[in-house]
Amino acid sequence: MDKLLIRGGRSLQGEVLVSGAKNAALPELCAALLTAEPVTLLNVPQLQDVSTMLKLIRNMGVVAERADDGTVRIDASGLNTPEAPYELVKTMRASVLALGPLLARFGEATVSLPGGCAIGSRPVDQHIKGLAAMGAEIVVEHGYIIAKLPAGWKRLKGARITTDMVTVTGTENFLMAAALAEGETVLENAAQEPEISDLAEMLIAMGAKIEGHGTSRIRIQGVEKLHGCTHRVVADRIEAGTFLCAVAATGGDVVLRHGRADHLDAVIEKLREAGADVQAVEGGIRVKSPGGATLKAQGFRTTEYPGFPTDMQAQFMALNCIAQGTATVTETIFENRFMHVNELVRLGAKIQVDGKVAVIEGVPRLSGATVMATDLRASASLVIAGLVADGETVLDRIYHLDRGYDCMEAKLRGIGADIERVKA
Ligand code: EPZ
Repeated sequence: MDKLLIRGGRSLQGEVLVSGAKNAALPELCAALLTAEPVTLLNVPQLQDVSTMLKLIRNMGVVAERADDGTVRIDASGLNTPEAPYELVKTMRASVLALGPLLARFGEATVSLPGGCAIGSRPVDQHIKGLAAMGAEIVVEHGYIIAKLPAGWKRLKGARITTDMVTVTGTENFLMAAALAEGETVLENAAQEPEISDLAEMLIAMGAKIEGHGTSRIRIQGVEKLHGCTHRVVADRIEAGTFLCAVAATGGDVVLRHGRADHLDAVIEKLREAGADVQAVEGGIRVKSPGGATLKAQGFRTTEYPGFPTDMQAQFMALNCIAQGTATVTETIFENRFMHVNELVRLGAKIQVDGKVAVIEGVPRLSGATVMATDLRASASLVIAGLVADGETVLDRIYHLDRGYDCMEAKLRGIGADIERVKA
């Protein structure tokens, strides 16, 4: 397995390009299944999860070509196997996003239950509840979700859907299913993430009738058919937030080209309170910092958007490890999203975890060591810690990082970090 070799202590200067958002590109690749006409996605990030999703839709009979410039051309006219098999789904839970589109366009879908992952059990019961409310007959057996329309039905029927909790991919499945359903669908406690709005904009470009995206109530008027479109994937706010935390921790002055400050209010607010200077600039975000050791540690609670994102919890914790004072971090979304803590402690951090709460006491310095990535954002947290630790940090199992970050080490090297990938 590849490793990352990081020598800490450098400040970061210059400009880095923020890629397209993983969590927008994945549902948008599935949205292309809703039409037999060609769909072109621009600014698709080069990630392992995107490669997996391309494999999944090609497995259905879809033609999908990815160019080096991030353009992906999809032709789902030949889709003949509305299935998402276990061997692909087990490596990427987001495969469940095929469920809504396949049901909406073909009236049937067989999608493997995703199973849990490192950060939690990740059930999809709410996806099933919402699609059943639209008329789908769904059974779960032998590890598969088997969904179909009732006999004689041509389309799903619009419904009013209120899920037990806010679910991002659940909202996305409902948006895609409702776009082709008969009548109106109202999502009462929809997720409000920017990736939801980006997906809605793509569906509208395909002819869908959607309003309220970006708020907790979304209304969709189903249409008979959707046509092709060209859509540019929105910039990745979590990649941008990760780089903001990295520069805040190491110190420096960096512009994140294409970064959207308006998608990162909660994180930027905390970075400013810590003492970093973060400003929206023409075409991006500029962050300046004297270095983590001079910043003030910030407590926070993760909540649904527009609150502090759970996907930024591990990265900000790395900053708190060396900032001044003690901070309390509460993870309210996932039940097991503190696996980076033990590895940060190996680097000299002082962290106590009790259930959903972690208390971080800032220390003057971290010391490099060999650490292990356990999940995507934990990996990013350990990269940030390695960038500030004294000496050399070796990060193992970085396939976790490759799932969600497009050439992170090359981007960091481009702004002055001493980091290299050691091929297995
Ligand atoms: C999406 O996951 C993201 N993934 C996650 O990003 C992100 O952490 C998460 O939203 C929360 O923001 C993609 O968009 C591909 P949820 P998702 O459904 O949709 C529970 C990353 O690092 N729940 O919003 O799977 C669930 O267990 C990844 O990029 C049910 O109980 O998350 C969790 O506690 C990690 N039943 C909470 O709701 C359901 O049917 C929120 O989950 C659905 C969810």
